[in-house]
Amino acid sequence: MRQVLVLNGPNLGRLGAREPEVYGSASFDDLAGECRAAAAKVGLGADVRQTDDEAELIRWVHEAADGRIPVVLNPAAFTHYSYALRDALAIRTAPLVEVHLSNPAARESFRHNSVVAGVADGTIAGFGLMSYRLALEAIAELAGPGEPGEPAEPGAAGEAGEPGAARATGEPGEAGFR
Ligand code: DQA
Repeated sequence: MRQVLVLNGPNLGRLGAREPEVYGSASFDDLAGECRAAAAKVGLGADVRQTDDEAELIRWVHEAADGRIPVVLNPAAFTHYSYALRDALAIRTAPLVEVHLSNPAARESFRHNSVVAGVADGTIAGFGLMSYRLALEAIAELAGPGEPGEPAEPGAAGEAGEPGAARATGEPGEAGFR
């Protein structure tokens, strides 16, 4: 089964207790369980992680790039200002989907800009836990089939020119929805 990393940034470990009117009542463990179940339904094995530490998050992003592992990422507040995270993500060798539980575009103005969005295949925001389910479905389409830790086969995401094909095969700048 192909693996996917589901990475979560600062304060997301506090889900459930953290501003439930914004982020809902589900805990981080609930989120992790939902992600594993949703991933399994589309043939993926999800490794769900959370950190409050920018350096640790960047190390995980490097790990994904080295292993050609697709990533679903909720960068949390790093979304809005971490150029270091963006630069790490730009090294990517497999699909990347940015997710948010809330809809940052409908919140405070400092949340309106994502420095990460420009290096992702796409962004899903505003649907609570469903954002993650939709992101995992997108990753399954973009990444194509594969074994645990197995590098993406050339063309695994589809024929040349199909959305995602260029990123999945490490060819920059072609295809995609952007
Ligand atoms: C968030 C939105 C960010 O603006 C915020 O800093 C978070 C969570 C979300 O999932 O809605 O921590 O990424």
